[in-house]
Amino acid sequence: MKLITCCSFKGGAGKTTALMALCSALTANEKTVALLEADVNRPLHNWMKNAVENGTWDQRCSVFAAEDLPLLETAYEDAESRGFDYALADTHGGSSELNNTIIASSDFLLVPTMLTPLDIDEALSTYRYIVELLVAENLHAHTAILQQRVPVSRITTSQRAASDTISVLPQFTVPMYDRDAFASMKRRGMLHLTHSGMKSNPAMRMTARNYETAMDEIGKLGAFLAETLEI
Ligand SMILES: Nc1ncnc2c1ncn2[C@@H]1O[C@H](COP(=O)(O)OP(=O)(O)O)[C@@H](O)[C@H]1O
Ligand SMILES: [Mg+2]
Repeated sequence: MKLITCCSFKGGAGKTTALMALCSALTANEKTVALLEADVNRPLHNWMKNAVENGTWDQRCSVFAAEDLPLLETAYEDAESRGFDYALADTHGGSSELNNTIIASSDFLLVPTMLTPLDIDEALSTYRYIVELLVAENLHAHTAILQQRVPVSRITTSQRAASDTISVLPQFTVPMYDRDAFASMKRRGMLHLTHSGMKSNPAMRMTARNYETAMDEIGKLGAFLAETLEI
């Protein structure tokens, strides 16, 4: 089981959304996914509840409570013994012993960030924190920035400058764009299953197109991670 973690000191950076999208991409590709929820607000449990109600929950995925160290340990062991391909950990903002443990156990760390000066500052601090922790523990994990909520239309000069600031760090070539398909996942459920339900409805044709583009983009991120982690 490979552990992929979304990590950022900042709330609202797009961690949970990136994780939900990635989970959809991996399960659509027939991988099994354990979601480790290390956030007391339990956004992933809510996501599952809404998705189950809408019939858009993929049974290849299970959510595990991991909001403190004993729960995390139990969840991880349980998921591993059940043979999940991936565990995806959603962390809460800030640094904590729980987050440190998750970072130190991860195979791939994603640092999502929006392109505002404040977000970029927080992403850089998070990146540095991760690298220092890994070096101190003599560990190796892939770490990369994921640009999040990038405008679909042309980006502004200040967003370009923000993007340039982080251009020296490893990052994914395909960012996550600001899309309704991503924003509405928490209410609607898994991307691919929401999309399947739309295809037969002519009134939803435009929305379905938006979903296809979103799935294509996040599918590339999923494929890249799978290739890097060799699953
Ligand atoms: N790619 C995206 N497109 C549109 N909305 C997004 C996207 N990523 C995040 N959001 C929205 O931004 C807000 C914060 O995202 P969230 O994933 O909850 O951040 P975090 O988990 O880091 O606190 C949410 O309302 C979410 O729907
Ligand atoms: Mg979150």
